[in-house]
Amino acid sequence: MRLAIVGATGAVGHELLSVLERSTLHFDELLLYASPRSAGSTLSFQDRKITVQVTPEGAIDADVILASAGGSVSKALAPVWAANGAVVIDNSSAFRMDERVPLVIPEINPQAALTHQGIIANPNCTTAIAAVALWPLHQAFGIRRAIFSTYQATSGAGAKGMDELLSGTKDFLEGRKVTPSTFAHPIPFNLIPHIDAFQDNGYTKEEMKVVWETRKIFGAPELRISCTAVRIPTLRAHSEAITLELERPATPDEARELLRQAPGVEVVDDPNARRYPMPLTSSGKYDVEVGRLRASLVFDGGLDLFVSGDQLLKGAALNAVQIAEELQR
Ligand code: HSE
Repeated sequence: MRLAIVGATGAVGHELLSVLERSTLHFDELLLYASPRSAGSTLSFQDRKITVQVTPEGAIDADVILASAGGSVSKALAPVWAANGAVVIDNSSAFRMDERVPLVIPEINPQAALTHQGIIANPNCTTAIAAVALWPLHQAFGIRRAIFSTYQATSGAGAKGMDELLSGTKDFLEGRKVTPSTFAHPIPFNLIPHIDAFQDNGYTKEEMKVVWETRKIFGAPELRISCTAVRIPTLRAHSEAITLELERPATPDEARELLRQAPGVEVVDDPNARRYPMPLTSSGKYDVEVGRLRASLVFDGGLDLFVSGDQLLKGAALNAVQIAEELQR
């Protein structure tokens, strides 16, 4: 099996390499591609160095392509790669809502991956992190409505987002003006309730991705979801406060027990010992941390919970590699 990564030098590309080193995916050759700016550099994989090539304008001779070079590259080239026989696992939003393209989280809808016509979409990071925690609850109790508030790390905007937090913090502390460029406002010592473009309905695209994509992955078009997505001055891992209205009442103990058995989830829920999900502890972890489980004060029999997950891992690279593993099963 010939495996290719497009966007190998980016933040997700870096994580793809480290996840592949630990995965059970079998491949004979690994090809790395990036834009002309970083092509020619070498990246380490296991005990060897691989030279990064310029992403070609046309076909790539690979069986599986993990694409993480952004929506415009995927939109233009993924159909070309697929027409040449490759299966493209695409990390961008270009094809996620395309009816012909499965949107897959292996803990939830692994069988959907097998229905692909050459392209499989990897979900938005915020969506994926919450979905692994919500799916077992949805199956057991039926989620009717979900209200999300998110707390998203600067690396969600790539390496330049992290740089802007670090250099901006230094500028702030040393008395210089903080000039934002990636974000709409200075991010150090601030938060910004604005991720991606505002839509006609007043929600941002990031917020609507949580709505659209969760419905598609759960196969639940009737699911009512509302989201406020907020950028916060952390480096890595996205967190989310979620309130659920359920078809059938759940107690926090029942939910905790169910989540303890669920794949992709780690229950971190002992407030007396000050244990709850946090970016500090969820960064670098494969599992999404879930905690602060409590009975909703708004919806009878509903739940409030808090999740924190590494958006570069389960929210991107890990999920993509797990999809590739699913194809090889
Ligand atoms: N859109 C996300 C963010 C990145 O800006 O945090 C992962 O989809």
